Amino acid sequence: IVDSTILITGGAGFIGSNLADVLIEDNEIVVVDDLSMGKIENLPQSNHLHFFKHSIVDKKFMDALLIDWKFDYIFLLAAVASVADTIERPLETHEINQNANVNILDAIRVNNLSIKKLLFASSAAVYGNDPELPKKESSHVDPLTPYAIDKFAMERFAIDYGILYNIPTVATRFFNVYGPKQNPKSPYSGVLSLVSESVKENKIFTIFGDGEQTRDFVYVKDVINALELLMINEDAMHDVYNVATQNAISLKTVIKEFENISGERVVLKYSDARVGDIRESFADISKLKELGFKPEYTINKGLASYWDSL
Ligand code: UD1
Repeated sequence: IVDSTILITGGAGFIGSNLADVLIEDNEIVVVDDLSMGKIENLPQSNHLHFFKHSIVDKKFMDALLIDWKFDYIFLLAAVASVADTIERPLETHEINQNANVNILDAIRVNNLSIKKLLFASSAAVYGNDPELPKKESSHVDPLTPYAIDKFAMERFAIDYGILYNIPTVATRFFNVYGPKQNPKSPYSGVLSLVSESVKENKIFTIFGDGEQTRDFVYVKDVINALELLMINEDAMHDVYNVATQNAISLKTVIKEFENISGERVVLKYSDARVGDIRESFADISKLKELGFKPEYTINKGLASYWDSL
Protein backbone atom coordinates (compact mmCIF):
# COMPACT_ATOMS: atom_id res chain seq x y z
CA ILE A 1 0.00 0.00 0.00
CA VAL A 2 1.43 3.39 -1.00
CA ASP A 3 0.32 7.02 -1.18
CA SER A 4 -2.78 6.33 0.87
CA THR A 5 -4.50 7.72 3.93
CA ILE A 6 -5.01 4.88 6.35
CA LEU A 7 -6.90 4.52 9.61
CA ILE A 8 -5.74 1.91 12.10
CA THR A 9 -8.00 1.57 15.14
CA GLY A 10 -6.03 -0.05 17.92
CA GLY A 11 -2.93 1.14 16.12
CA ALA A 12 -0.88 1.53 19.30
CA GLY A 13 -1.56 -2.08 20.21
CA PHE A 14 0.36 -5.18 19.35
CA ILE A 15 -0.70 -5.97 15.79
CA GLY A 16 -1.69 -2.39 14.93
CA SER A 17 1.69 -0.89 15.79
CA ASN A 18 3.57 -3.57 13.88
CA LEU A 19 1.35 -2.68 10.93
CA ALA A 20 1.95 1.04 11.39
CA ASP A 21 5.73 0.41 11.37
CA VAL A 22 5.46 -1.01 7.87
CA LEU A 23 2.83 1.30 6.38
CA ILE A 24 4.37 4.53 7.67
CA GLU A 25 7.10 4.32 5.00
CA ASP A 26 4.80 5.34 2.15
CA ASN A 27 1.52 6.50 3.64
CA GLU A 28 -0.33 8.89 5.92
CA ILE A 29 -1.39 6.96 9.03
CA VAL A 30 -4.05 7.87 11.56
CA VAL A 31 -4.14 5.85 14.76
CA VAL A 32 -7.03 5.86 17.21
CA ASP A 33 -6.24 4.03 20.43
CA ASP A 34 -7.41 4.47 24.01
CA LEU A 35 -4.09 3.04 25.26
CA SER A 36 -5.90 0.49 27.42
CA MET A 37 -3.45 -2.15 26.23
CA GLY A 38 -1.56 -0.22 23.55
CA LYS A 39 1.36 2.08 24.24
CA ILE A 40 2.37 5.30 22.58
CA GLU A 41 6.00 4.10 22.51
CA ASN A 42 4.90 1.32 20.18
CA LEU A 43 4.24 3.84 17.44
CA PRO A 44 6.79 4.93 14.86
CA GLN A 45 7.80 8.58 15.14
CA SER A 46 6.96 10.44 11.97
CA ASN A 47 5.16 13.55 10.74
CA HIS A 48 3.02 11.17 8.76
CA LEU A 49 1.71 9.47 11.89
CA HIS A 50 -1.30 11.16 13.48
CA PHE A 51 -2.23 9.78 16.87
CA PHE A 52 -5.53 10.26 18.68
CA LYS A 53 -5.84 8.94 22.20
CA HIS A 54 -9.49 8.13 22.06
CA SER A 55 -11.92 5.26 22.44
CA ILE A 56 -13.62 4.03 19.28
CA VAL A 57 -16.81 3.89 21.35
CA ASP A 58 -17.18 7.68 20.98
CA LYS A 59 -19.42 7.78 17.93
CA LYS A 60 -19.31 11.56 17.50
CA PHE A 61 -15.55 11.55 17.48
CA MET A 62 -15.29 8.63 15.07
CA ASP A 63 -17.89 10.07 12.67
CA ALA A 64 -16.06 13.39 12.49
CA LEU A 65 -12.71 11.66 12.01
CA LEU A 66 -14.02 9.54 9.14
CA ILE A 67 -15.56 12.55 7.42
CA ASP A 68 -12.49 14.76 7.91
CA TRP A 69 -9.83 12.35 6.75
CA LYS A 70 -11.52 10.56 3.84
CA PHE A 71 -9.56 7.36 4.40
CA ASP A 72 -8.54 5.08 1.56
CA TYR A 73 -8.04 2.09 3.82
CA ILE A 74 -9.43 1.28 7.26
CA PHE A 75 -8.05 -1.44 9.52
CA LEU A 76 -10.41 -2.20 12.42
CA LEU A 77 -8.03 -3.71 14.96
CA ALA A 78 -9.20 -2.06 18.19
CA ALA A 79 -10.67 -4.62 20.55
CA VAL A 80 -10.56 -6.09 23.99
CA ALA A 81 -8.38 -8.97 22.79
CA SER A 82 -8.65 -11.11 25.86
CA VAL A 83 -11.29 -13.81 25.79
CA ALA A 84 -11.31 -14.08 29.59
CA ASP A 85 -11.75 -10.34 29.99
CA THR A 86 -14.93 -10.43 27.88
CA ILE A 87 -16.32 -13.16 30.11
CA GLU A 88 -15.82 -10.88 33.11
CA ARG A 89 -17.14 -7.70 31.46
CA PRO A 90 -19.50 -8.82 28.68
CA LEU A 91 -21.50 -5.62 28.25
CA GLU A 92 -18.61 -3.23 28.37
CA THR A 93 -16.55 -5.29 25.94
CA HIS A 94 -19.56 -5.68 23.63
CA GLU A 95 -19.64 -1.88 23.25
CA ILE A 96 -16.06 -1.96 22.03
CA ASN A 97 -15.84 -5.24 20.16
CA GLN A 98 -19.13 -4.88 18.33
CA ASN A 99 -21.15 -1.67 18.68
CA ALA A 100 -18.30 0.75 18.08
CA ASN A 101 -17.36 -1.12 14.91
CA VAL A 102 -20.93 -1.17 13.62
CA ASN A 103 -20.97 2.60 14.18
CA ILE A 104 -17.93 2.96 11.95
CA LEU A 105 -19.53 0.93 9.17
CA ASP A 106 -22.70 2.93 9.52
CA ALA A 107 -20.84 6.23 9.38
CA ILE A 108 -19.40 5.11 6.05
CA ARG A 109 -22.89 4.23 4.82
CA VAL A 110 -24.68 7.34 6.06
CA ASN A 111 -22.03 9.76 4.84
CA ASN A 112 -21.51 7.96 1.55
CA LEU A 113 -17.79 7.79 2.19
CA SER A 114 -15.85 6.24 -0.60
CA ILE A 115 -13.12 3.94 0.68
CA LYS A 116 -10.86 1.49 -1.11
CA LYS A 117 -11.30 -1.18 1.53
CA LEU A 118 -12.10 -1.81 5.16
CA LEU A 119 -10.65 -4.80 6.99
CA PHE A 120 -12.16 -6.18 10.18
CA ALA A 121 -9.96 -8.33 12.40
CA SER A 122 -11.93 -11.29 13.64
CA SER A 123 -10.67 -14.35 15.41
CA ALA A 124 -10.23 -18.10 15.32
CA ALA A 125 -12.26 -18.03 18.52
CA VAL A 126 -15.40 -18.09 16.33
CA TYR A 127 -14.76 -21.79 15.62
CA GLY A 128 -15.07 -22.69 19.29
CA ASN A 129 -14.75 -26.36 20.07
CA ASP A 130 -16.23 -27.74 16.89
CA PRO A 131 -14.23 -30.96 16.44
CA GLU A 132 -13.48 -30.50 12.74
CA LEU A 133 -9.75 -29.89 12.26
CA PRO A 134 -8.11 -28.08 10.62
CA LYS A 135 -10.56 -25.21 10.75
CA LYS A 136 -11.64 -23.96 7.37
CA GLU A 137 -13.48 -20.71 6.78
CA SER A 138 -16.43 -22.86 5.73
CA SER A 139 -16.29 -24.93 8.94
CA HIS A 140 -19.11 -24.75 11.43
CA VAL A 141 -18.78 -21.80 13.80
CA ASP A 142 -19.37 -22.22 17.51
CA PRO A 143 -18.75 -18.92 19.29
CA LEU A 144 -18.62 -19.81 22.99
CA THR A 145 -17.75 -16.52 24.68
CA PRO A 146 -18.80 -12.86 24.46
CA TYR A 147 -15.49 -12.32 22.67
CA ALA A 148 -16.22 -14.90 19.99
CA ILE A 149 -19.87 -13.88 19.65
CA ASP A 150 -18.95 -10.25 19.05
CA LYS A 151 -16.17 -11.18 16.64
CA PHE A 152 -18.46 -13.43 14.63
CA ALA A 153 -21.28 -10.91 14.53
CA MET A 154 -18.86 -8.18 13.45
CA GLU A 155 -17.47 -10.32 10.66
CA ARG A 156 -20.97 -10.70 9.33
CA PHE A 157 -21.65 -6.98 9.76
CA ALA A 158 -18.49 -6.12 7.83
CA ILE A 159 -19.20 -8.56 5.02
CA ASP A 160 -22.93 -7.99 4.71
CA TYR A 161 -22.84 -4.23 5.16
CA GLY A 162 -20.31 -4.36 2.38
CA ILE A 163 -22.61 -6.28 0.11
CA LEU A 164 -25.77 -4.36 1.02
CA TYR A 165 -24.34 -0.87 0.82
CA ASN A 166 -21.54 -1.37 -1.67
CA ILE A 167 -18.66 -0.87 0.74
CA PRO A 168 -15.48 -2.87 -0.06
CA THR A 169 -14.79 -5.00 3.00
CA VAL A 170 -12.90 -8.09 4.08
CA ALA A 171 -12.47 -9.92 7.39
CA THR A 172 -9.70 -12.02 8.89
CA ARG A 173 -9.76 -14.77 11.48
CA PHE A 174 -6.50 -14.43 13.37
CA PHE A 175 -5.19 -17.49 15.11
CA ASN A 176 -2.68 -16.99 17.97
CA VAL A 177 -0.51 -14.06 17.00
CA TYR A 178 2.78 -13.50 18.85
CA GLY A 179 5.83 -11.30 18.51
CA PRO A 180 7.39 -7.96 19.45
CA LYS A 181 5.24 -5.39 21.23
CA GLN A 182 2.65 -7.82 22.57
CA ASN A 183 1.93 -6.36 25.98
CA PRO A 184 2.53 -8.90 28.78
CA LYS A 185 1.24 -6.64 31.55
CA SER A 186 -2.20 -8.15 31.90
CA PRO A 187 -2.82 -11.70 33.18
CA TYR A 188 -5.01 -12.03 30.08
CA SER A 189 -2.23 -11.22 27.63
CA GLY A 190 -1.23 -13.56 24.82
CA VAL A 191 0.36 -16.66 26.26
CA LEU A 192 3.80 -16.32 24.66
CA SER A 193 4.20 -12.77 25.92
CA LEU A 194 3.45 -14.12 29.41
CA VAL A 195 5.94 -16.97 29.03
CA SER A 196 8.71 -14.55 28.01
CA GLU A 197 7.80 -12.17 30.81
CA SER A 198 7.97 -14.96 33.38
CA VAL A 199 11.45 -15.90 32.15
CA LYS A 200 12.69 -12.32 32.21
CA GLU A 201 11.31 -11.67 35.67
CA ASN A 202 12.08 -15.08 37.14
CA LYS A 203 8.46 -15.79 37.88
CA ILE A 204 6.56 -19.05 37.82
CA PHE A 205 4.43 -19.54 34.73
CA THR A 206 0.98 -21.07 35.28
CA ILE A 207 -0.39 -23.47 32.70
CA PHE A 208 -4.18 -23.50 32.75
CA GLY A 209 -5.30 -27.06 32.10
CA ASP A 210 -2.93 -29.88 31.20
CA GLY A 211 -0.87 -27.95 28.66
CA GLU A 212 -1.95 -30.29 25.88
CA GLN A 213 -4.29 -27.70 24.35
CA THR A 214 -3.07 -26.79 20.88
CA ARG A 215 -2.80 -23.48 19.09
CA ASP A 216 -1.77 -22.35 15.63
CA PHE A 217 0.78 -19.67 16.52
CA VAL A 218 1.53 -17.11 13.83
CA TYR A 219 4.32 -14.58 13.95
CA VAL A 220 3.19 -10.97 13.73
CA LYS A 221 5.34 -10.23 10.67
CA ASP A 222 3.47 -12.90 8.73
CA VAL A 223 0.22 -11.38 9.93
CA ILE A 224 1.21 -7.94 8.63
CA ASN A 225 1.99 -9.44 5.21
CA ALA A 226 -1.42 -11.11 5.20
CA LEU A 227 -3.14 -7.86 6.14
CA GLU A 228 -1.52 -5.92 3.32
CA LEU A 229 -2.28 -8.67 0.86
CA LEU A 230 -5.95 -8.80 1.84
CA MET A 231 -6.24 -5.04 1.54
CA ILE A 232 -4.82 -4.76 -1.96
CA ASN A 233 -5.99 -7.98 -3.54
CA GLU A 234 -9.27 -7.26 -5.29
CA ASP A 235 -10.34 -10.89 -5.15
CA ALA A 236 -10.37 -10.66 -1.37
CA MET A 237 -13.78 -9.04 -1.14
CA HIS A 238 -16.79 -9.53 1.15
CA ASP A 239 -15.24 -12.65 2.50
CA VAL A 240 -13.35 -14.00 5.52
CA TYR A 241 -9.83 -15.48 5.67
CA ASN A 242 -7.96 -17.51 8.25
CA VAL A 243 -4.59 -15.99 9.16
CA ALA A 244 -2.26 -18.62 10.65
CA THR A 245 0.60 -20.89 9.66
CA GLN A 246 -1.28 -24.21 9.47
CA ASN A 247 0.72 -25.79 12.27
CA ALA A 248 -0.79 -26.94 15.53
CA ILE A 249 1.47 -27.07 18.54
CA SER A 250 0.61 -27.83 22.15
CA LEU A 251 1.22 -25.26 24.85
CA LYS A 252 3.71 -27.59 26.55
CA THR A 253 5.66 -28.07 23.32
CA VAL A 254 5.79 -24.40 22.48
CA ILE A 255 7.16 -23.72 25.98
CA LYS A 256 9.85 -26.38 25.38
CA GLU A 257 10.76 -24.69 22.08
CA PHE A 258 10.92 -21.39 23.88
CA GLU A 259 13.32 -22.86 26.43
CA ASN A 260 15.54 -24.28 23.67
CA ILE A 261 15.72 -20.98 21.85
CA SER A 262 16.19 -18.73 24.85
CA GLY A 263 18.41 -21.09 26.79
CA GLU A 264 16.29 -20.23 29.83
CA ARG A 265 14.13 -22.47 31.96
CA VAL A 266 10.41 -21.79 32.29
CA VAL A 267 9.32 -22.76 35.79
CA LEU A 268 5.85 -24.21 35.54
CA LYS A 269 2.89 -24.80 37.77
CA TYR A 270 -0.49 -26.11 36.78
CA SER A 271 -3.94 -24.75 37.50
CA ASP A 272 -7.51 -25.42 36.35
CA ALA A 273 -8.35 -24.90 32.69
CA ARG A 274 -9.94 -21.55 31.87
CA VAL A 275 -13.69 -21.38 31.43
CA GLY A 276 -14.50 -21.13 27.72
CA ASP A 277 -10.99 -22.18 26.72
CA ILE A 278 -10.63 -23.86 23.35
CA ARG A 279 -9.01 -27.26 23.33
CA GLU A 280 -7.66 -27.55 19.82
CA SER A 281 -7.03 -24.80 17.33
CA PHE A 282 -5.47 -25.51 13.98
CA ALA A 283 -6.07 -23.60 10.75
CA ASP A 284 -6.43 -24.51 7.14
CA ILE A 285 -4.96 -21.51 5.31
CA SER A 286 -5.41 -22.66 1.70
CA LYS A 287 -7.80 -19.80 0.98
CA LEU A 288 -5.21 -17.20 1.95
CA LYS A 289 -2.48 -19.11 0.12
CA GLU A 290 -4.56 -18.92 -3.05
CA LEU A 291 -4.14 -15.15 -2.89
CA GLY A 292 -0.36 -15.64 -2.74
CA PHE A 293 0.29 -15.76 1.00
CA LYS A 294 3.19 -17.80 2.27
CA PRO A 295 4.11 -17.78 5.97
CA GLU A 296 7.80 -17.03 6.37
CA TYR A 297 8.16 -17.85 10.05
CA THR A 298 8.14 -21.37 11.42
CA ILE A 299 7.58 -21.47 15.16
CA ASN A 300 11.34 -21.77 15.72
CA LYS A 301 12.21 -18.85 13.48
CA GLY A 302 9.42 -16.77 14.99
CA LEU A 303 10.37 -17.53 18.58
CA ALA A 304 14.03 -16.76 17.82
CA SER A 305 13.14 -13.44 16.24
CA TYR A 306 10.82 -12.64 19.15
CA TRP A 307 13.43 -13.54 21.78
CA ASP A 308 15.98 -11.36 19.96
CA SER A 309 13.58 -8.41 20.11
CA LEU A 310 13.17 -8.62 23.89
C1 UD1 B 1 -6.05 -15.83 21.61
C2 UD1 B 1 -6.10 -14.32 21.62
C3 UD1 B 1 -7.38 -13.85 21.03
C4 UD1 B 1 -7.48 -14.44 19.64
C5 UD1 B 1 -7.45 -15.97 19.72
C6 UD1 B 1 -7.47 -16.58 18.35
C7 UD1 B 1 -4.84 -13.08 23.28
C8 UD1 B 1 -4.79 -12.52 24.66
N1 UD1 B 1 -5.93 -13.77 22.97
O1 UD1 B 1 -6.97 -16.41 22.52
O2 UD1 B 1 -7.40 -12.44 20.95
O3 UD1 B 1 -8.64 -14.03 19.01
O4 UD1 B 1 -6.24 -16.35 20.34
O5 UD1 B 1 -7.15 -17.92 18.37
O6 UD1 B 1 -3.92 -12.90 22.50
N2 UD1 B 1 -2.67 -19.94 29.06
C9 UD1 B 1 -1.99 -20.51 30.13
N3 UD1 B 1 -1.38 -19.67 31.02
C10 UD1 B 1 -1.40 -18.31 30.91
C11 UD1 B 1 -2.10 -17.74 29.81
C12 UD1 B 1 -2.72 -18.59 28.90
O7 UD1 B 1 -1.95 -21.72 30.27
O8 UD1 B 1 -0.82 -17.62 31.76
C13 UD1 B 1 -3.33 -20.83 28.09
C14 UD1 B 1 -4.79 -20.51 27.90
O9 UD1 B 1 -5.60 -21.14 28.86
C15 UD1 B 1 -5.01 -21.05 26.49
C16 UD1 B 1 -3.67 -20.83 25.79
O10 UD1 B 1 -2.72 -20.65 26.83
O11 UD1 B 1 -5.30 -22.43 26.52
C17 UD1 B 1 -3.66 -19.60 24.92
O12 UD1 B 1 -4.19 -18.53 25.66
P1 UD1 B 1 -4.21 -17.03 25.14
O13 UD1 B 1 -2.88 -16.62 24.68
O14 UD1 B 1 -4.90 -16.20 26.16
O15 UD1 B 1 -5.04 -17.15 23.79
P2 UD1 B 1 -6.48 -17.67 23.36
O16 UD1 B 1 -7.41 -17.84 24.49
O17 UD1 B 1 -6.22 -18.83 22.46
